[in-house]
Amino acid sequence: MVDLRGLVSSKDLDKDKLDFLFSLALHLKNTGKNKLLRGLKSDHSVGTVALIFQEPSTRTKTSFNEAIFALGGRAIDFNIKNSSLTKGESLEETVLNLNSLELDGIVLRSSQESLPSKLKALNDIDMWIVNAGDGKGEHPTQVVGDTFCLMNSIGLNGKKITIIGDVEHSRVAHSLINLWPSLGVDLSLLPTSNYESKLNSFKTLQEAQNHSDVLYVLRPQSERWDPGDSEILKSYSDITVKSLNENQYLMAPGPVMPGVDISSDLLKHERSLIFDQVNWGLYGRAAIIKYLSEGGHFG
Ligand code: CP
Repeated sequence: MVDLRGLVSSKDLDKDKLDFLFSLALHLKNTGKNKLLRGLKSDHSVGTVALIFQEPSTRTKTSFNEAIFALGGRAIDFNIKNSSLTKGESLEETVLNLNSLELDGIVLRSSQESLPSKLKALNDIDMWIVNAGDGKGEHPTQVVGDTFCLMNSIGLNGKKITIIGDVEHSRVAHSLINLWPSLGVDLSLLPTSNYESKLNSFKTLQEAQNHSDVLYVLRPQSERWDPGDSEILKSYSDITVKSLNENQYLMAPGPVMPGVDISSDLLKHERSLIFDQVNWGLYGRAAIIKYLSEGGHFG
């Protein structure tokens, strides 16, 4: 019995694997997506991949689509509303059927926390699975791209990074908290609500700014709030990042909410890494897909 292979949690990653994937991502980035697309470097090993997105996405879905195409594969935009999921078929049954249709992989954004882990536990399936975000659970491919973005710019080891905002409802924050301390990041939080963590937590934006090399900003994740959570929005008025200290960098997974989480002029600040993160998300995901397509394992 062999488990479905895949990447479902940032706990499946370690420094050696990230170093290996970073070299691969750097090679793909230096080659360039357009050159890959023209087939000059394509090895045609990726095959057919279903993109199953139960929640909206711009960055993640487009980057997976482009990465698969650039690597010589074919992405199927699995249309949930026109699928037999609407007739009561479960996602597990859907995966079993896609396996019988000889697909090579699935990329799943699920509103249900831990669903990718449950699917990964299915046995004797030839496909691989990647978690593209599961409710407020995890978003491992986002943090792979963000890690590579830092490795390529200021490095991670010993860097003081503070995650600011709605940590409780952010799957990106949960994946960062699982991974970055193990890579030597001095990670702190400035959460909008009482979030239990062993990490250092600041009470004010001033404290966080005085301490940090990097501010990592989260938007209010209102689509995952319970009715009582609307108070979270009020606390953003005290933590909107309006400026950066000297040598301080800004990161955000996107989408950002200018005027709420950061002031709009910071989006394109010379030390904003926000658009670099998106580009590294493309090549980080390309490296993950290539690794899995060639038989690689996570976790
Ligand atoms: N950061 C992120 O996951 O963005 P999307 O929801 O647009 O994919």
